Amino acid sequence: MNRKITRRSAVALAAAAPVALATRGFAQSPIVIKLSHVVANDTPKGKGSLKFKELAEKYTGGKVRVEVYPNSTLYKDKEEIEALQLGSVQMLAPSTAKFAPLGAKEFEALDLPWLFKDDLAYANAMKGSVGQWLFTKLESKGISGLAYWDNGFHMVSANRPLLAPADFQGLKIRISGSKIADQYFRELGSIPQIMAFSEVYQALQTGVVDGCENTASNYLTQKFHEVQKHITVSYHAHLQYAVIVNSKFWNGLPADIRPQLDKAMAEASDYTNSIARQENEDSLAAIKASGKTTLHDLSDDQRKAWRVAMAPTYKWAKGRVGQEVLDLLVKELNLQI
Ligand code: LMR
Repeated sequence: MNRKITRRSAVALAAAAPVALATRGFAQSPIVIKLSHVVANDTPKGKGSLKFKELAEKYTGGKVRVEVYPNSTLYKDKEEIEALQLGSVQMLAPSTAKFAPLGAKEFEALDLPWLFKDDLAYANAMKGSVGQWLFTKLESKGISGLAYWDNGFHMVSANRPLLAPADFQGLKIRISGSKIADQYFRELGSIPQIMAFSEVYQALQTGVVDGCENTASNYLTQKFHEVQKHITVSYHAHLQYAVIVNSKFWNGLPADIRPQLDKAMAEASDYTNSIARQENEDSLAAIKASGKTTLHDLSDDQRKAWRVAMAPTYKWAKGRVGQEVLDLLVKELNLQI
């Protein structure tokens, strides 16, 4: 049927599909960017997403509307990557541990245990050749990487204290997707299980899994600390996000809009990366103050024993992520592996 588009039906259509119509010349309809993520607003990623919304709308004078969907309200972990490729959502900020479904296994190298000695080492590596090289791995998937967002280092928990490698024996540990995490938990004798982030609290509460790893801000906002009796502040691995977009959508943005969005993303990224450390320190303090769990620090000897137990992951990783990314990390971080 060749239906004539009246002004009224055009307005109705614009409300339903503003992006499509805006690119067809209905300049009054804003371009909508749906930004889906799985964590709470009150986390580094949640705050970064809202900052991008604020700046993008400001710099484009309202020509762009950013709709932020936190807490898996739009999509869960694996679904969101598929939705991005299909163009149902335009922007995501998944943890790089979740990139295997995209066929970009190289990102999992960032999950190697004890890889980054501190926040600065992480930040430099992502700003340098490793970060840029990893983004090239997305190009053939119809996805473009815009920025890396930090969320600090992982803690690990269970209902018993985890102080020696032997304490992990037989525990079912939830992991977010990376085979590298799967491997290092196996080396400790546990049984890792991939599970969507939105399902973790209940799985811990009902004993479907015995433990998990995550950063302090995620423990606090998801209340994992209320259903885990012991948390070890081990900082054994790092959690980072890549802000990614559907390339077709991003490259098709009007020339007067793209630079404003690039600027908004650069500033939102600086902001996110500048608050991540403090956000996690504050979250750790709040977990401690809640009295709902027992926090443990590792002694130097205990940490050494964990590192030794997890060390074979590096050799194993070569077959998973390839030598190229490992070489880049060795160079960038001055590692001996
Ligand atoms: C997880 O699934 O544990 C994390 O990736 C959640 C997040 O995005 O911080």
